[in-house]
Amino acid sequence: MGERRPRLAGKVAIVTGAGSSGPGTGTGNATAILFAREGASVLLVDQSAERAEQTLATIQQQGGEASVYAADITQAPDCQAMVEAARDRYGGLHVLMNNVGILGYGTVVDVTEETWDRVFEVNLKSMMLTSKFAVPAIIESGGGAIINISSTEALRASSSAVTPYNASKAGIIGLTNAMAAHHGRDNIRVNCIAPGFLYTPMVAPLLTEESRESRRQASLLGTEGTAWDVAWAAVFLASDESRWITGIVLPVEAGLLTSTPLPTLNYESSDSGNKP
Ligand SMILES: NC(=O)c1ccc[n+]([C@@H]2O[C@H](COP(=O)([O-])OP(=O)(O)OC[C@H]3O[C@@H](n4cnc5c(N)ncnc54)[C@H](O)[C@@H]3O)[C@@H](O)[C@H]2O)c1
Repeated sequence: MGERRPRLAGKVAIVTGAGSSGPGTGTGNATAILFAREGASVLLVDQSAERAEQTLATIQQQGGEASVYAADITQAPDCQAMVEAARDRYGGLHVLMNNVGILGYGTVVDVTEETWDRVFEVNLKSMMLTSKFAVPAIIESGGGAIINISSTEALRASSSAVTPYNASKAGIIGLTNAMAAHHGRDNIRVNCIAPGFLYTPMVAPLLTEESRESRRQASLLGTEGTAWDVAWAAVFLASDESRWITGIVLPVEAGLLTSTPLPTLNYESSDSGNKP
């Protein structure tokens, strides 16, 4: 058998939030590393150049092609310049991974308007802005794929009060549907990943060993998700292997949305006669 052709050979990709907000590996960081390992040239976009430099160092150690671009993706001029940088440095654009997201707290009663607006700006408006400039560049390059990171919190609320997070992540699914509908004939596939309870830098400071364990036990597999689980799904959705898949929400959540692992019927002790 000959050597395997890398799955993203010849592709140019932008990953937003390609650094990690704290110690450990974030989904943007992991995705950028796997994209480069699979042969893509990757523009590592982050508001913190220093964080993206750490991702770059890993990619360079592994012999991949990437470079850092510092940008705040809530700002239209930054988004436009980011896309121009990808074209200038690598000659085109095929893949956009919209990964940036932040938490925001509160029930609908106690959330502040400032928190609500900021979370929507960072989580949802930013994806419209990056896509506004990326879509024409992807069309010019002959087509490609956009991957938006939502969350299971868009589909199923948990006991934590993160209402603006729930609502903005649900908005990402609507945005994905619209983009997939409007740009399918441009040969652009637009898909969404809905990660479940991962252990990443965004949530690590908020977890005790006990809450980390209850996140594990909430899923059907009873194990912990990592940034790499999302990154592998992103490689698939970015690659031509998924050439006939668009407009989907791909849960990466160990079955969290399928069922709850808690016992719901005491079947064995039932004497109702209602057994097969
Ligand atoms: N951890 C989980 O359980 C979980 C579950 C579902 C979805 N997600 C989603 O995964 C994504 C990544 O989370 P994470 O914990 O891996 O990331 P993270 O908190 O490590 O952040 C990644 C990077 O985004 C950058 N960033 C933030 N705002 C930015 C802006 N305005 N412009 C440019 N860069 C900016 C930060 O500097 C940081 O380096 C988010 O969208 C999050 O909502 C996480």
